[in-house]
Amino acid sequence: MGNGISASHHSCLATILVTGSNGMLGQDLCPILESANYTVIKTDVAEMDITNGESVESVISTEKPDVVVHCAAYTNVDKAEEDIETARLINAIGTENVAKSCAKNNCIMVYISTDYVFAGNGIEPYKPTDKTAPLNNYGLTKWEGEEAVRKYCEKYYIARTSWLYGIYGKNFVETMISLADKPELKVVDDQIGCPTWTVELSGGILKLLEEKKPYGIYHICGSGVTSWYGFAKTAFELSGIDANLKPCTTDEFPRPAKRPAYSVMDNDGICRDWKDALKDYINLRQKVGK
Ligand SMILES: NC(=O)c1ccc[n+]([C@@H]2O[C@H](COP(=O)([O-])OP(=O)(O)OC[C@H]3O[C@@H](n4cnc5c(N)ncnc54)[C@H](OP(=O)(O)O)[C@@H]3O)[C@@H](O)[C@H]2O)c1
Repeated sequence: MGNGISASHHSCLATILVTGSNGMLGQDLCPILESANYTVIKTDVAEMDITNGESVESVISTEKPDVVVHCAAYTNVDKAEEDIETARLINAIGTENVAKSCAKNNCIMVYISTDYVFAGNGIEPYKPTDKTAPLNNYGLTKWEGEEAVRKYCEKYYIARTSWLYGIYGKNFVETMISLADKPELKVVDDQIGCPTWTVELSGGILKLLEEKKPYGIYHICGSGVTSWYGFAKTAFELSGIDANLKPCTTDEFPRPAKRPAYSVMDNDGICRDWKDALKDYINLRQKVGK
């Protein structure tokens, strides 16, 4: 393979190119892939702007990775309501560019998608084959990205995740901790879902590749269910923070983008219970002095 990796059981999948490597997921995913002995090619907008099809094709055809894990995205859910064109350019057209080059260069494509492809009016956990019906522009453009992957690639994994948090990004846990000294902190209790640590998602992605799971759609999120209020409450308990947390309804806390009320996905046992993962995250953030 010419990359210095010899005779390991996954030597047939030795090189992985990651898009959005400077993002919250990318910064956890890349070292995890490296420690599993893959050669990782890190790209973000400076190295490979996914909205530029020629740039994408040039990088992928030169690097010839075995796998592309496509994490780059427009992730500001509320801003996407007023700026659908930019969201679509990055999430739909950008993903189409990556999908076309993966197909042309015979790479496996892993596309990170979202629970927001679902309407959230279900009563049991969404399965990968369930009907999608995004409620907001972010979810719509990520779904359009999924459609491009399904259209152009044969060898693909669509990995839908939800309520993502990680040490390298702005996320719900850090926002809550930063607001903990407010006299009162109201958090939505009528939207439920599955919090997912970026490290757990990275492990799930690795599992798809190492176990050579059949190509298709997977839900990679924490096991179990909670509300945003329950998520915040547990984060405070695990951190030993005494905050004046109060549950509230979605109506009391209007946001530009609609969110699914029931955002629970069936992860088929791929990840641990969300509370166990959160405990490890809180320990880690304390260890690194956050
Ligand atoms: N965060 C969540 O709660 C959540 C939930 C479900 C699914 N997801 C999905 O999980 C994936 C990772 O999310 P994340 O939270 O790690 O996102 P993130 O922190 O926003 O990282 C995305 C990265 O992509 C880069 N990027 C943006 N436009 C690009 C372009 N044109 N070309 C190349 N790179 C570009 C961003 O750079 P800039 O920062 O410079 O723009 C950033 O480094 C995304 O696909 C997201 O849709 C996230």
